[in-house]
Amino acid sequence: MTTIKIDIKELEFGSIEQKESVLLRSKILREPLGLNFNDEELLSEDSNYHLGAFYQNHLAGILLLKPMNIKEVKMRQVAVAQDMQKMGVGKQLVHFSEKFAIEKGYKTICLHARKSALLFYLKLNYCIEGNEFIEVGIPHYKMTKKL
Ligand SMILES: CC(C)(COP(=O)(O)OP(=O)(O)OC[C@H]1O[C@@H](n2cnc3c(N)ncnc32)[C@H](O)[C@@H]1OP(=O)(O)O)[C@@H](O)C(=O)NCCC(=O)NCCS
Repeated sequence: MTTIKIDIKELEFGSIEQKESVLLRSKILREPLGLNFNDEELLSEDSNYHLGAFYQNHLAGILLLKPMNIKEVKMRQVAVAQDMQKMGVGKQLVHFSEKFAIEKGYKTICLHARKSALLFYLKLNYCIEGNEFIEVGIPHYKMTKKL
């Protein structure tokens, strides 16, 4: 697999780049399911960390970390632009977010993986917890990783 060189940084909530990342999330994660975000949902994300991956100054991927308690963050909304998938962007975003979470003092990461992305997270050493469940109308698994 080719791995492209990207820059990853935290996006300030409400910034132009963060707003652009909502469009990417919508296109990759919601539109294919016939869904969209509502304003209340988006506003509640001011307490999440928004990590953006850039390839040649263009947004290539996004990942959010939501603090659940003092020890745990939830990884959510992991999305890579269609034409940038399978080039190592997702993997680098996850690795960056793990270092980021460690620096903030978190001990574990949890997430709800779409069944279609299960192998991606298994390769990054996330473990399945419990049975398959439905979220946003599609099968998911809870996964966790100790940092
Ligand atoms: C899933 C997603 C985030 C992965 O990001 P990516 O940049 O395409 O993945 P990478 O190139 O970093 O892949 C890392 C490894 O995982 C594998 N992989 C990536 N996506 C995969 C998938 N959907 N199923 C199985 N394996 C996958 C790659 O082949 C690669 O394997 P390798 O290390 O053995 O070569 C991205 O494809 C995406 O946005 N998909 C649509 C939205 C989505 O499903 N998001 C996750 C919601 S839980």
